[in-house]
Amino acid sequence: MKHDNPPLLMIPGPVFMHPRIYEAFSRPLIGHRTPEFEEFFEETINMFKKLIQTKNEVFLLTGSSTSAMDSAIANVVSPGDKVLNVVQGKFSERWLELTKAYGGESIVLNIEWGKAVRGEDIARSLEKNKDIKFITICHNETSTGILNPAEEIGKVAREYDKILIVDGVTSVGGDYVYPDKWNFDILAGGSQKCVGIPPGLGMIMVGPRAWEIIESRKFIPSYYLNLLKYREDHMPFTPSIPHIYALHESLLMIEEEGFENRVKRHRIMGKATREGIKAIGLDLFADEKFASNTVTAVSYPNSIKDEEFRKAIQDKGVLIAGGQGKIKGKIFRIAHMNVVTEREILVTLSLIELALSQLGFLKNLGKGVKAADEIFFKNKK
Ligand SMILES: Cc1ncc(COP(=O)(O)O)c(C=O)c1O
Repeated sequence: MKHDNPPLLMIPGPVFMHPRIYEAFSRPLIGHRTPEFEEFFEETINMFKKLIQTKNEVFLLTGSSTSAMDSAIANVVSPGDKVLNVVQGKFSERWLELTKAYGGESIVLNIEWGKAVRGEDIARSLEKNKDIKFITICHNETSTGILNPAEEIGKVAREYDKILIVDGVTSVGGDYVYPDKWNFDILAGGSQKCVGIPPGLGMIMVGPRAWEIIESRKFIPSYYLNLLKYREDHMPFTPSIPHIYALHESLLMIEEEGFENRVKRHRIMGKATREGIKAIGLDLFADEKFASNTVTAVSYPNSIKDEEFRKAIQDKGVLIAGGQGKIKGKIFRIAHMNVVTEREILVTLSLIELALSQLGFLKNLGKGVKAADEIFFKNKK
């Protein structure tokens, strides 16, 4: 494997990282039990808490984002507990798999892939099944490019007095995620998405209603992910020190940019990508009213083969993602997370146009790039 010409990562994780993150990640290690590191670790947690405006406890787990999801279910769902799993893509489906893995009784609310789940859909399921205890959702469903109305869902969950468990893996750091205001009881996050550091860190926020359940359990079926251990000592096991350096640096960069500005930038990148795609003549996969600001999914025209198309783009140095699960081969996805700016969007759209022309779908090049650039221009005024 050669490292001298890294591709531009336009996939939904790992993402294109700022040089400051590479620098932070390669700093010399210090002992994690030193007061110096302990202080740094706490400061990092507090910066993360500030990002999501929470007063609840947050823990940093060494593991990919799924470790935070696994921890969420392992700690609160007892065998036989009824869990309403909203399934509308690959990642919301992961909650269903985890529920089953820990013996929960899953009640599935299937939503068409590419559509959002609404509060009223959830309320209907709760009316039918009064003994549901938990609700799981994926805030930003990366596999379809949908951003669910989490605030509306949180209101319903609280109205019905259910524990709401949310995957914020591709929204935290790139879009508004306010767990306290929006009534989330548990929120799972990850490192290699909108906070733009290498994969390997999971974040988990746990609210008081979830703690009540955790404290009342006789047995928690996990050792490494047992949240009581993390509450007692924020570092029960040796943390990945480079990830903590990198997360701290990233959170510093987010503060410097200003979170409002950061979200605005993500929204502009999302809008420019969608307008570019439509101008090219391709269809967006997701309902545009609930379009994600961090990832865009695009339906392939019948004549285009996924592998050929993505290879043509990859050969010119840009990596975009294919579809997953039952929509594999039917869509491709462009991520616009972390430090992405108009430069990366314009390059990606031009390569998409070039590939489509190479494959005989497109005759006139430049429409997508122009439409995206108009969005950038409008937003500069
Ligand atoms: C929304 C969402 N949840 C969970 C995951 C799983 O993350 P990981 O592979 O870091 O465990 C991903 C990865 O793409 C994701 O996008």
